[in-house]
Amino acid sequence: MKFTIGFEKEDKDRLFSYFDEIIQSERWSEHKFTKMFEEKWSRYNNLESVAFSSWAGAALSALEFFDVKGKTVLCPANTFIATSLSVIKAGGNVEFVDCNRDDLCMDVQDLKSKIDKYSPAAVFVVHIGGHIAFQIEEISRLCKDKGIVLLEDCAHAHGADWNGKKAGTWGDAGIYSFYATKTVSTGEGGMLVTRNKGLVDYARKYRNYGKFEYDVEGLNYRMSEFTAAIGCIQAERLDQIIDWKNAYAKKHLDPAYPNRVKFPSGMKSGYYKYIVFDPIENSTGKVYDAPCHLIMGKDYELPNTEWIAGNHWCIPIYYKGGKI
Ligand SMILES: Cc1ncc(COP(=O)(O)O)c(C=O)c1O
Repeated sequence: MKFTIGFEKEDKDRLFSYFDEIIQSERWSEHKFTKMFEEKWSRYNNLESVAFSSWAGAALSALEFFDVKGKTVLCPANTFIATSLSVIKAGGNVEFVDCNRDDLCMDVQDLKSKIDKYSPAAVFVVHIGGHIAFQIEEISRLCKDKGIVLLEDCAHAHGADWNGKKAGTWGDAGIYSFYATKTVSTGEGGMLVTRNKGLVDYARKYRNYGKFEYDVEGLNYRMSEFTAAIGCIQAERLDQIIDWKNAYAKKHLDPAYPNRVKFPSGMKSGYYKYIVFDPIENSTGKVYDAPCHLIMGKDYELPNTEWIAGNHWCIPIYYKGGKI
């Protein structure tokens, strides 16, 4: 299966008509389509949404709002380096937590021991592969009990759902990526989701140099109207893309790969990745080859993360539309 972006070719005409409208409006940024994309994303997961030009800008706004500078933020080691680098750029110290072998996501037992050891200001959980971290309920309860900020890296989690609850709704904020390989893509872009009104106001200023009060030291992380127009179309196709991927996985992949990530009752994966624990031919490779604690030269071991790095593979699963 060759890589394709989840984009319906029949949406091209509508997209071009949006582009025409933007060109004629003489408003190529900070206008109608950005607002519309945010509204559609809010409808999707019932949180306020703020569009950014990148995942990184959205993550930085949340980390700076919660003032992690000089404090420790716990991240899973099994993630993309972006999660940890955003913490460092926000002035925080990053320490790493091990994962579970069944979901590849943060292990709540190791999280407890790292909380005791590092007294973190925040925890950055990552929903790896398109499903929700299996222990998100315990992680969220633990953070609430201890007064620790919980951020959710939702870069993989478009369409992920657990009994109707979407990724980004457990924590204080969630951050989506719309990079060109993601389940829902706009080429580049990010979205911050939160129910915290203070963070929404802060993030809107943060992406725009703090305009107009200049009480927020942000930079330019604005999304262009053209990107937002793609987002409007893509947001409307989200359910269709996710349903197609789920039907494809059920019919063509599940029978062939019994030794795979298996989801708890009520969980729907967005299937950014289809992850198995046996080496296979034609794999697209690993979600991540190298754990972040090793990349960053930490002097501790995280056995499950290291096991995962050597023992999982991804089967291609790309939205093609039409008959399954
Ligand atoms: C888990 C995770 N977090 C953050 C990012 C960063 O997203 P972007 O590439 O849109 O900056 C990625 C990117 O692929 C990712 O996989």
